Amino acid sequence: MTGPSDAEVKHVTVDAAVRDYLVRSCTPPHPAVRKLAERTAEVGDAAGMAVPIEQASFMTMLAALLAAKTVVDVGTFTGLSALSFALGLAPGGRVVTCDVTDQWQEIAQEHWAAAGVADRIEFRRGPATRTLRALAEAGGPGTVDLVFIDADKMNYPTYHELAVPLLRPGGLLMADNVLLDGFVVDPASAEPGLARRSAERLREFNATLAADDRLDAVMLPIADGLTIARRK
Ligand SMILES: C[S@@+](CC[C@H](N)C(=O)[O-])C[C@H]1O[C@@H](n2cnc3c(N)ncnc32)[C@H](O)[C@@H]1O
Repeated sequence: MTGPSDAEVKHVTVDAAVRDYLVRSCTPPHPAVRKLAERTAEVGDAAGMAVPIEQASFMTMLAALLAAKTVVDVGTFTGLSALSFALGLAPGGRVVTCDVTDQWQEIAQEHWAAAGVADRIEFRRGPATRTLRALAEAGGPGTVDLVFIDADKMNYPTYHELAVPLLRPGGLLMADNVLLDGFVVDPASAEPGLARRSAERLREFNATLAADDRLDAVMLPIADGLTIARRK
């Protein structure tokens, strides 16, 4: 008897019904996370930028497992990822989150305050490269527990370069949307223009991360793909 081929190795396709079941089979999300996710859904098409609630719960768990004191959240939007990390911080910990726009800050601040974590989250407006460089200057290398990259895809390689030195040994670099709707497998199948260039860039980024000998990286098929890389 032969075992399953590589193509047959157990893999469940997560359609809407499976995803719904999966979400219902988790501990219910923190009420503040649910409220912010609901409020974010009201902003229209942009709402799809937020992490889904099951990923939010997972990120809270990772921050708690690390007993994180310092988390850097690249790409704030309405503040869901920052909130998720803030809920898992060790006492005295903080999240630094940054975005080029403060368009969504009113929503973010209202929900951070309602969750009782506003004093643990610092928002910095401006390009993420500026925030990452400033953190390196202020704190020095090896001072951050977790960096989450979830901003403009074309800059992921730059964020990788800037983030790794910030991480302490055992700290995590996390990158969102690493499957980019599956287009990373075959970037030529994406629409010409930014979508295709982003798929090509993310493909390069994924390969670079997997080959980075400072990190142990795993890519998970949660939502749009999430890579978690542990600093050696
Ligand atoms: C996918 S959304 C972030 C979602 C957020 N992490 C969440 O879970 O709700 C990406 C955000 O990155 C921001 N962004 C785009 N380019 C940026 C840059 N160069 N520096 C910082 N933020 C940027 C966008 O304005 C947008 O709000």
